[in-house]
Amino acid sequence: MAEINSIRKVINSIEPQSVMEGAGVRLRRSIATRQLDYLDPFLLFDHFGSHDPVDYMAGFPMHPHRGIETVTYMQAGSVRHTDSLGNSGVIKIGDVQWMTSGSGIMHEEMPQQGPDGHMEGFQLWVNLPAILKMSAPRYQEILAGSIPEIMPEPGIHVKVIAGEYAGQRGPATEIAADPTYLDVALDPAASFTTRIAADHTAFAYLYFGDGDFGGTFASATRLLIFGAGETIQVTADKIGAKFLLISGKPLGEPIARYGPFVMNTQQEIMEAVKELRDGTFIKHG
Ligand code: FE2
Repeated sequence: MAEINSIRKVINSIEPQSVMEGAGVRLRRSIATRQLDYLDPFLLFDHFGSHDPVDYMAGFPMHPHRGIETVTYMQAGSVRHTDSLGNSGVIKIGDVQWMTSGSGIMHEEMPQQGPDGHMEGFQLWVNLPAILKMSAPRYQEILAGSIPEIMPEPGIHVKVIAGEYAGQRGPATEIAADPTYLDVALDPAASFTTRIAADHTAFAYLYFGDGDFGGTFASATRLLIFGAGETIQVTADKIGAKFLLISGKPLGEPIARYGPFVMNTQQEIMEAVKELRDGTFIKHG
């Protein structure tokens, strides 16, 4: 008999790997590495941040995406962006850009230093099901002010970007993976509990402090993958803890990936490359 309301235990603890991306941006990657290629439906997780603009000023010049969603969440500084749909703007502190590439977009992402000299953020790639890989691109620009910030009790602060927490829904909606994306800050010794659908992949990205994650002690910076169960339980230690809690419904489909293209077959990847070369890559824009 299945355990009711069982606490999810950590089944894998991933140490972020230093990589260079884009035109020369130093960042820390936890998904899309040799150690963890894919955490269905999540294709990539990057944490970028530096006090030295040399680490990121080359940015991510114009590049394509097909078959995925990229989710950018800024903690410090900003990212200037422009794309083939005619959008342009700045993702500022606390803002989220949930970009559904569908059949294809070309965009540029350029990190900028904040007034405090710091730039920091996260980018998650969420896979699209086969049926949506060639759909029209879509952007959700989510401003910091529209993200509910909940304090269920003293010492617990939860920003709800997607999914639900304490009866509040986040502003990122109509996403195929039915994701939860929470940013949780715990004071020392505070304890956080939430339910996540049992059939969803779930992980925490601990970016500050330390604490107990379902029975496993962890210190920043770590990506912690949860096993089976329904309840996530985290208790901060002496300095508190800040982490993202992300979950999504696995697709269970074959993947073929080549850089910014993620499709189901190698043939589809070859088509994307050919279309990019022929100038027929952009279907909507
Ligand atoms: Fe991109």
